[in-house]
Amino acid sequence: MRRQLDVNVMDPSVVEDPFPFYEEVRSTGRVVWNSSLGGWMVPGFDDCSTVLTDHGAHFAAVPTNPEVLPWFEAPTMISVDGSTHRRLRGCLSPLFTRSSVARWEQRVRVVVDKLLEPLLDGHESFDLIADFTMIPTVIVAEMLGVPAERHGDFRRWSNTIVSNLSWGHEDASARATLLRAATDLNIYLREEIQRHRRDRPDDLLTAMVQMAEAGEMDEEEVRAAAVLLLIAGYDTTAKVLSNTLVALERHPDQRRVVVDDPTLVPAAIEEVLRWCGTVQAVPRVATNDVSLGGSDLAAGDMVYAFVAAAGRDPARWSDPARLDVKREAKANYGFGWGPHLCLGAPLARLESAVAIEQLLLRAPEYRLHDIELGPSFFVRGPERGLLDARARA
Ligand code: HEM
Repeated sequence: MRRQLDVNVMDPSVVEDPFPFYEEVRSTGRVVWNSSLGGWMVPGFDDCSTVLTDHGAHFAAVPTNPEVLPWFEAPTMISVDGSTHRRLRGCLSPLFTRSSVARWEQRVRVVVDKLLEPLLDGHESFDLIADFTMIPTVIVAEMLGVPAERHGDFRRWSNTIVSNLSWGHEDASARATLLRAATDLNIYLREEIQRHRRDRPDDLLTAMVQMAEAGEMDEEEVRAAAVLLLIAGYDTTAKVLSNTLVALERHPDQRRVVVDDPTLVPAAIEEVLRWCGTVQAVPRVATNDVSLGGSDLAAGDMVYAFVAAAGRDPARWSDPARLDVKREAKANYGFGWGPHLCLGAPLARLESAVAIEQLLLRAPEYRLHDIELGPSFFVRGPERGLLDARARA
């Protein structure tokens, strides 16, 4: 029997609070068809692992398809498996190791201090999105070598793409918005790649241009990789930052624990990733007919690893709905899992830890107002809101 639950995940009530829906999925079955989503939903921790650690034998990355993801004009590591994935990921991975990223720490601290400067000047109200979560855009843009005057465009393109992304399920107007952003971003990056080929500034885009010259990537792959870094690196990190602030504000006891012991900031971020993951679901395609969790999947079926639901799987976590920054450290899927595990996780962890630590130092009793979630189910988090800092003198 096919277990089925047809719920529109883009419905604002699901985006607002997806957790009751996840429990409904869990009680319906381990692998549940959703005709509104056009795919199978997988909410369990172990079943998500089965899907995400597979490298194309039964479950493959969703291939680049200009009809669905028009901003990628060539394959990227996130859309391929096997040897092509190893080649494309291998080109960039030396630039994202923990030690490579540690070299950015000083710069991250300077950017965070600058963004938090108004608090020291006595400003009590702070735009959470326009001010605080600008950190990842500045860092990704600087890494790629995008000049400061284009950071605003970069942020807009990234946000437009991530907010409207629905894996081909978006309506006509969202689709037109996506296409426009995709075209503008690619036109801009073409110009940047030419400038980098000519001037050779010391940055990541020049490193990729050199890899293209050495035959390790082709030119289209370089541009697609730059698009991927922007899209994967900005909105996700911005939303992890604001989701962490929301979670701590709503749990003042937990916030107090972290304020009293700032070494707990990294653990608090991991706990928020488990408790209220920013990435809700990671898509795959079944490569052949396969049985999973008692359901029979057909070749070509879409499969969604509901990683945010896995973060609340009672088989993995005791009292999963409770936010506990001192919880026993165990891996969660906030950065995905398996061969496509987030390449930028060390950078995202660094940016988030510095930003949260510095904000709590300056404004340990901050309050949030007018928080509005963006429309995206897949990358869920606030897109508007004010932070009342009540900064200490
Ligand atoms: C806290 C912020 C972030 C979150 C929550 C996040 C989440 C994720 C997730 C869930 C995946 C797996 C996708 C899949 O399996 O299909 C992923 C992959 C990826 N992320 Fe992140 N990410 C974050 C920040 C970043 C940053 C800062 C960068 C780089 C600047 C980045 C670059 C990538 C890349 C390149 C991949 C593809 C890896 C591959 O396919 O081998 N991410 N990310």
